[in-house]
Amino acid sequence: MAFSLFSKNKSAILARCRDDYATKMRHKYAPYYHAMEAQQGTRVRLDGRDMIMLSSNDYLGLSFHPKVIEAGRAALVKWGTSTTGARISNGSRSFHLELEEKLAAFLGREACHVHAAGYLSCMSSVAAFAQKGDVILADKNLHSCLWDGIRLSHATVERFSHNSPEDLRSIAVTVHGPAPKLLVLEGVYSMEGHICRLPEITEIGESLGCFTVLDDAHGFGVLGRQGRGTVDHFGLNEKVDVICGSLSKSLASTGGFVAASSDVIEYLRSHSKQTVFSAALSPCQAAVALASLEIMQTEPEHLERLWSNTRKYRALLTSLGLDTWESETPAVPIVLGSRERVYRFWQALLDQGIFTVISIAPAVPPGKDLIRTAISASHTDEQLEKIAAAMAYALKNL
Ligand SMILES: Cc1ncc(COP(=O)(O)O)c(C=O)c1O
Repeated sequence: MAFSLFSKNKSAILARCRDDYATKMRHKYAPYYHAMEAQQGTRVRLDGRDMIMLSSNDYLGLSFHPKVIEAGRAALVKWGTSTTGARISNGSRSFHLELEEKLAAFLGREACHVHAAGYLSCMSSVAAFAQKGDVILADKNLHSCLWDGIRLSHATVERFSHNSPEDLRSIAVTVHGPAPKLLVLEGVYSMEGHICRLPEITEIGESLGCFTVLDDAHGFGVLGRQGRGTVDHFGLNEKVDVICGSLSKSLASTGGFVAASSDVIEYLRSHSKQTVFSAALSPCQAAVALASLEIMQTEPEHLERLWSNTRKYRALLTSLGLDTWESETPAVPIVLGSRERVYRFWQALLDQGIFTVISIAPAVPPGKDLIRTAISASHTDEQLEKIAAAMAYALKNL
């Protein structure tokens, strides 16, 4: 009897997977999970055709930098492919400590901890510190890794309108009281390309005694001196307690980091399940991130080129009358407002050899269905010209 009950439950889950509407639509229109056959910087090959990659987070274009590739190769030879264990047990190596020390120093923090994914770093930056009874003030447009951390914490959540100090202020008057409070933000919002209004928002957070966590996955390498990120861009190092982020964007690796005071990082190492029970960052990925960090500090031309490309690209989109959601950074959405328009625009760009990514509700607010594009320092002038022609074509065919 018990056995047949279990098997019915199992088939219900199997039917859920088989009949899932979102999966069927994904297969029908095939906008996601495209596997490139080859890549060389911003040039990729898809279905036998050469294309320009216009949606990668390789902002500084370091993923094919000779020094970065050589660092990865040397680490593989010296340390093997994996540490095959968690940092707390058998997985810690001297290269982790070196990367953590250098990241901490770069960000003006006492300490840092690196994980095998940015998702783990950012999720644990909330889940490790907040607990039931605490109050979390969260921007409505946070990345899903932060929402997962918020959910895991069991704290009470108060959402404020995206990047709105005004709304945060109106919520602040309702949350005065002794409960510990966290303020959770992104430095650069990755879908919108907006820079956090950090001065006004942290001022309100400070008045409530908030512990402030900032995910700078898209600000690191892009804003601030040598790419130190959003906090440095505003000169507000004292106002943010935890900076977390990803190694998979400007640092051209995979993995993530959490940087804070020594007490905070040691607490994370004791209490974060994502930190304690997950295998350490691999030797190759750590070496690649370390080499990219070094290049950020010694070769300023990549950051300069990123911004000159971004300015040219934004001017192009504006001249075509496209809505870029007032993006201020190299992450530039093209808002088209409906999934049909987004799909047609995306397909036209693809036909013209430009690879972009669709983002539709509920991943974005209703009416904000968009194409996500991102500029890299390694886009050439010739590629920018091809992108301009393709955008004009896609607009004409909308
Ligand atoms: C804002 C933000 N935080 C965290 C992450 C997770 O980083 P990773 O992809 O390195 O796991 C991402 C990745 O897209 C992101 O955009």
